[in-house]
Amino acid sequence: MDAVVTVTHPLDPLSLAEIASAVALLRDSRKLAPTVRFPIVRLEEPTKADLAAHRLGGTLPRLAFILAMDIGNGETFEGIVDLTSGEVASYERLPLDQLPYGQPPVMLCEFETVEGTVKSDPRWIAAVKKRGVTDEDIPLIQIDPFSSGYFGRDFEKGKRIVRAVSYWREDIRDNGYAHPIEGVVAVVDLIANRVVDLVDDEKIIPVPRKKRNYGRETFPETRPDLKPLHIVQPQGPSFTVDGWKVEWQNWSFRVGFTPREGLVLHELGIKDQGRLRPVVFRASVTEMVVPYADPTANHYWKSAFDAGEYGLGRLANSLELGCDCLGHIHYFDVPAADDLGQPFTMKNAICMHEEDYGILWKHYEFRNGIFEVRRSRRLVISFFATVGNYDYGFYWYLYQDGTIQLEAKLTGIIQTAAVATGETYPWGGMVDDNLGGPTHQHFFNARLHMDIDGGGNTVTEHDFVPRPWGDDNPYGNVFDTRTRVLKRELDSPALANGETGRYWKVSNPNIQNSVGKAPGYKIVVMPSPVMLAQPESTVAQRGGFAKKHIWVTAFDASEKYASGDYPNVHAGGDGLPRYVMQNREIDNADVVLWHSFGHTHVCKPEDFPIMPVEYAGFTLKPNGFFASNIAMDLPPEANGHSIDNRLPQSPEKIGSGSCCHT
Ligand code: CO
Repeated sequence: MDAVVTVTHPLDPLSLAEIASAVALLRDSRKLAPTVRFPIVRLEEPTKADLAAHRLGGTLPRLAFILAMDIGNGETFEGIVDLTSGEVASYERLPLDQLPYGQPPVMLCEFETVEGTVKSDPRWIAAVKKRGVTDEDIPLIQIDPFSSGYFGRDFEKGKRIVRAVSYWREDIRDNGYAHPIEGVVAVVDLIANRVVDLVDDEKIIPVPRKKRNYGRETFPETRPDLKPLHIVQPQGPSFTVDGWKVEWQNWSFRVGFTPREGLVLHELGIKDQGRLRPVVFRASVTEMVVPYADPTANHYWKSAFDAGEYGLGRLANSLELGCDCLGHIHYFDVPAADDLGQPFTMKNAICMHEEDYGILWKHYEFRNGIFEVRRSRRLVISFFATVGNYDYGFYWYLYQDGTIQLEAKLTGIIQTAAVATGETYPWGGMVDDNLGGPTHQHFFNARLHMDIDGGGNTVTEHDFVPRPWGDDNPYGNVFDTRTRVLKRELDSPALANGETGRYWKVSNPNIQNSVGKAPGYKIVVMPSPVMLAQPESTVAQRGGFAKKHIWVTAFDASEKYASGDYPNVHAGGDGLPRYVMQNREIDNADVVLWHSFGHTHVCKPEDFPIMPVEYAGFTLKPNGFFASNIAMDLPPEANGHSIDNRLPQSPEKIGSGSCCHT
């Protein structure tokens, strides 16, 4: 997929040419100052209804959403540019100077200016010198401009600030996270370009100097016993790609990408007996927040909302063939806008490939010797975003039996804290000498705009409960499934419960399946924490979505993100907790299912210098959607490249034939 490809479908991301003309149209018509930056430029997507009209032959305008911010005065505007008519459809100033405030995401260009601002502040220089830093060290010091959180202080209210923390480095390739400068935080106003508050904690902890690097030069002796493992697809992959549209094993969907969410799946449907049946209209991860549980100067405010405060899409990696994904890979290059609104191509931002996934189904019937086994194949559509110290992979999996899965992969480098010699770190785990890792949580929220067989959908909650002894349970072995219909939005915020096997099902009550019930998909959640910060704390107010695992809302095009539109320096209360307060009807409606999931991370030595991948995610499984196992028609061929290791490896010993014998 070439980023400059001509747009062929209303859901195609803005092309490079469209980005350029949308920004130019806005710039010219509103006479924008040269100090205006563009934190977000994306397609303003058509709705289900728009697309239904389009399928009937109607034409839809191509709309670009542009967030424009003047870094000279902080004024911020949301604009919609109609590329079809060549006009600015709307351009409205955001009241970010009023409660509950909020700011556009932190831009890359600001990362660079913060470093200069901090390093020229005499209070910061004095503070780091107290911790053993010399004048010669200062050019090499790493400055991390962290999204600031919000605590009601005057320099936060309506202000565009970051809190900058610093790390000593011996040289440019040295891992700064091994050398945190503890007790020094510079609060930088990005509009005034100055340090508005400098925290210099009374307790002086020397900078840990032990080097903990991860570049390959640090590990010259690699383990010798690892033989090559190749994924061979001699006839190519089983998917087809047409622009942004993909088809694979009965599945059909469109790939999308936004600056905030990164990868989006649109119009995900599956062919069943020759008919394409809608399942999910739009699927994405709209937020990811990491609240830290250390009350000291460098950490209490840390609560990066990586989607809303930085942009998972804006920070997407260019993926590396043979490293990030194996096999026959299809990359999507993504057209994007830089901070100046100039179009550029994010090369290899999305990876798509197939993976073997063990056994899909199997049976051996000893009475007649029938033996059948089929291997499972999954289609993987993924991207990786690096947000400061952490790296997050987002992997959507489609399976041949109709299952959909999202897996988030958490890796990268933990936040660190300096610990005085002879002390131990009370707010997390020690990872090395003089080095602690603050305890924290990671919360993702997936937004699933459902579309089970089109039309109205209903969400139900199910628990398995024991049935009391009685005439209908004379042996005590009976248990029931207790079902609760989520009728209105305030019925919906719910917690998972492993004890009762709680699950939720989205079904279409207007249609009957093969056994006379509503066809549906169930969401299977993994054991997952909720946010443990006190409900009144500002991080819990700003990340309220993470207090519950499940939320259901009636679709509203303006309700796109679990944490609201602008969580950066926001006083809280936006997003899902606000959306559901409307208590709209969600029974047999156009529903959005939101799922919060995550991981509580108490740091340990194995997390350093780079933590092995931790997983979080969920699965959507067909539940009365199909009339039978739709993967019975998989071919029974055995893999021709498999080898019996006990035998000499000659070609005739290589496995072949059929995965069945009678
Ligand atoms: Co972590």
